[in-house]
Amino acid sequence: MGSDEPRPAAPVRPAPQDMRAVLGHFCTGIAVITGHDGHNPLGFTCQSVTSVSLDPPYVSFCPALSSTSWPMIRATGRMCINVLADDQEAVCAQFARRSHDKFAGVDWSSAGNGSPRIHGALATIEADLEFEHGAGDHTIVVAHVTALEAHSGRPLLFYRGDYGSFADRPAEPMNYAASAT
Ligand SMILES: Cc1cc2nc3c(=O)[nH]c(=O)nc-3n(C[C@H](O)[C@H](O)[C@H](O)COP(=O)(O)O)c2cc1C
Repeated sequence: MGSDEPRPAAPVRPAPQDMRAVLGHFCTGIAVITGHDGHNPLGFTCQSVTSVSLDPPYVSFCPALSSTSWPMIRATGRMCINVLADDQEAVCAQFARRSHDKFAGVDWSSAGNGSPRIHGALATIEADLEFEHGAGDHTIVVAHVTALEAHSGRPLLFYRGDYGSFADRPAEPMNYAASAT
């Protein structure tokens, strides 16, 4: 190659803080993924929830390899995705830190599959682990939905590291539940 020819571009490798800053422009809801190992309720805050397939009904989310709750939930093979409402910022914060007592002060009951259903959540999605795929410092979990319900309210949103909601939108009436037959 002659010295005056353009050099091939160096592979782009954004720094983790740049990934966080730019991907933070993709506004998401927030969920708490819960499970129960037969002794203790388990859960962690998670924004990476996505609807994947309608038929079969699949959802996905991405636990970090550093998550201490996910390996214990994974071992049970089932979980509940609790989509948080805009008055549950404290719940979001409580499940975003490592603690043996994450459920202290949180109202919950057992969903049909035994995972904790957090009261006041906007939506509750029960699912069985279908498969998991390694992806860098996270894993991509795909789970088969077995039951789901939604209630009136407004979502807790996460955008550029901060929280918000649809303050100018009325909480649409909604009471829906379905489960696999
Ligand atoms: C708004 C928000 C979104 C988060 N999303 C994720 C996520 O998608 N995946 C993940 O592994 N951790 C996510 N976290 C971080 C975990 O909640 C946090 O690391 C927690 O301590 C993990 O708990 P554990 O060690 O009990 O699993 C998020 C935290 C916050 C505050």
